[in-house]
Amino acid sequence: MESDKRHPFLNGLSKHRGAPPTVIVIFGASGDLTARKLIPAIYNLGVDNLLPSQFFFIGVGRKPIENKQFQEIARTSVKSFSRRDIVDDVWPRIEANIQYHAGGYDDPKSYLDLKEKILKIEESSDRKLQLLFYISTPPNVFEPILENLGASGLANHNANSPIESKVIIEKPFGKDLESAKALNQTITRNFNEKQVYRIDHYLGKETVQDLLVQRFSNAIFEPIWNRNYVNCVQITVAESLGVGTRGGYYDQSGALRDMIQNHTMQLLALVAMEPPVSLDPESIRDEKVKLLKAIQPLDLNPDNGDVVRAQYTEGLINGERVPGYMQSEGIPETSTTETYAALRLSINNWRWKGIPFYMRSGKSMSTRVSEIAIQFKRPPGILFSDDQRFDLAPNTMVLKIQPDEGVTIVMNSKVPGLETRTQPVKMDFRYATTFGSNTPEAYERLILDSMVGDSTLFIRGDETEASWKLITPILEYWKKCGKRGVEEYVAGSWGPLAAEQLLWANKNEWRRSGL
Ligand SMILES: NC(=O)c1ccc[n+]([C@@H]2O[C@H](COP(=O)([O-])OP(=O)(O)OC[C@H]3O[C@@H](n4cnc5c(N)ncnc54)[C@H](OP(=O)(O)O)[C@@H]3O)[C@@H](O)[C@H]2O)c1
Repeated sequence: MESDKRHPFLNGLSKHRGAPPTVIVIFGASGDLTARKLIPAIYNLGVDNLLPSQFFFIGVGRKPIENKQFQEIARTSVKSFSRRDIVDDVWPRIEANIQYHAGGYDDPKSYLDLKEKILKIEESSDRKLQLLFYISTPPNVFEPILENLGASGLANHNANSPIESKVIIEKPFGKDLESAKALNQTITRNFNEKQVYRIDHYLGKETVQDLLVQRFSNAIFEPIWNRNYVNCVQITVAESLGVGTRGGYYDQSGALRDMIQNHTMQLLALVAMEPPVSLDPESIRDEKVKLLKAIQPLDLNPDNGDVVRAQYTEGLINGERVPGYMQSEGIPETSTTETYAALRLSINNWRWKGIPFYMRSGKSMSTRVSEIAIQFKRPPGILFSDDQRFDLAPNTMVLKIQPDEGVTIVMNSKVPGLETRTQPVKMDFRYATTFGSNTPEAYERLILDSMVGDSTLFIRGDETEASWKLITPILEYWKKCGKRGVEEYVAGSWGPLAAEQLLWANKNEWRRSGL
C-alpha cells in the first residue's frame, strides 16, 4: 500500500499545483537557455503530469523558421539536455501544440500578429488562456519586449482575473542601481508587480529551498542561529571554468554583477533573514528586503577594506593549462574586470551585529562548488587540548548547493585509540543518497510556480534595488581606481592572498570548500 511506504514524519504543505490552461511564449527561443533548460523543463513537467491539460508553446525569434522545423529543434533539445529520456506518449502531445513566431523584438506589428495567433488558439480551445511570457533574450531587448507587450494589450490579457498574463524576466536585472530602477519602471508601466516573475535560478535549486526547511523545521538550529553562537558565515560560489571564448561578453559584467549581486545576495538573505510570519511570497520577500537593508555600507579601501577583486593568471585546472584572463580571447588590454570578488559584510540588526558574513565568487577556481558554511564559535580547549591556549575546531554546518547537494555538519570526535585526541569529522546528508539523484531541475520548479502564480522563489522589484544599492558604490569606486587594487590569483587556486587576509583580520580563515 502506498501509505505504508511513507515516512511516519513525512509532512507536506500540499500547495495546489494545478496550473490553468496556458500559452507560454518564449522570446529568444533559438537561444542557448531555451535549448538547454527551458524546453527540457517543459518536457519534464509534462512527464510528471504537471502541465495543464491545455498547454501551448510559442517560440519567438527574429529568424524565419517553420513550425515543423522549430518542433524538431525542440525535440532535439529534449533529447540532448533533458534529465529524462524522451517518452513517446508525452512528447507528441506537447509537440502538437508548439508553434514558432518570427518577428523583431522591437517591431509593434510582430506583437499584433502574435496576439492574432494567440486569439486563434484561444478560439480553437474554447477556453480563456493564461499567457506566460518568458523573456530569454540578451538584456538589451528586455525593455522593448516589455513595452510592446504593454502596447499590444498582451500584458492585459484577462486582466485582474486569476489567469491574467504573467512575465518571467531572466538575469541580468540591470547593471547598476540606476538601470535596475529604469527596468523596474518599464515593468510597472506595463505590468502589475504581481504579474512579474524575476528569475534567479539559484532559488529553484533544491538545497536553497531546503535552507528554509532546515532553519525553520528543526528545533536544534534556529536557537543557535545568531551572534551568540555563530562566529562567521561564508558563502562561496566558485566555478572551475574560465571565460573560454566568451571573454568579450564577460568583460562587460564581472564577478560582482554576474554572481554576487544576485545569487550570493539571495543566499545571504535566506540564511540570515528573520523567520517569516508565513510561507506566503510577500512574507518571505519582506524579510529578505529587511535583511538586505540592514547590511552596512562597505569600506571600499583596497588596503584592508571589506572588498577584494582579482583576475586570474595562467594556471592548471584538472591538469589542463588555462590561459590568464588578460590573455583570453576578446579581453581588452586595459580590462580591469574582476573574475573574482570577495566581500566582508556586517549586518546591523539584533541577531547578527558584530558577526562577519563573507562571500566570494570566482572563475577558474580550484573546484566548482556553491555552498553556505555557518561556522559556530570554537569550544574552549580546556578539557581536550594539550595546550589550553588553543580552542578546539569550530562546528560548521555546510549547505551544499552544487554540485553534490546536501548538508554536512562538522563536529569534533574522539580518534580511536588509547590516547584522548579529538579530530573534526563530518556528518553527511546527501540528497542523491537519500532521495535518489533524479530531482527536478531549478527551471522546472520555477516555470511551474509561475504558471500556478506562486512568486515565492522569484525576486521582487525592491529586492533587486536593495541589492544594487549595496553593489553599485563598489562598481563606481572600482571604476575610479582603474587598475589600482586589482589583485591576481593563479587559475586553479582558491583566489588571491588579499582574500585570505580579509578573513585573517578577524582571526578567521576560508573553509576549504568542496571538502
Ligand atoms: N544560457 C544560460 O545558461 C543562461 C543562464 C542564466 C541566465 N541566462 C540569461 O538568459 C537570457 C538568454 O540567455 P541565452 O544564453 O539563451 O542567450 P543567447 O543565446 O545569446 O540569446 C537568446 C536569443 O536572443 C536573440 N538575440 C541574441 N542576441 C541578440 C541581440 N543582440 N538583440 C536581439 N536579440 C538577440 C537570439 O534569437 P533570434 O536571433 O532568433 O532572435 C538568441 O537566440 C540572457 O538574459 C541570459 O543572461 C542564460
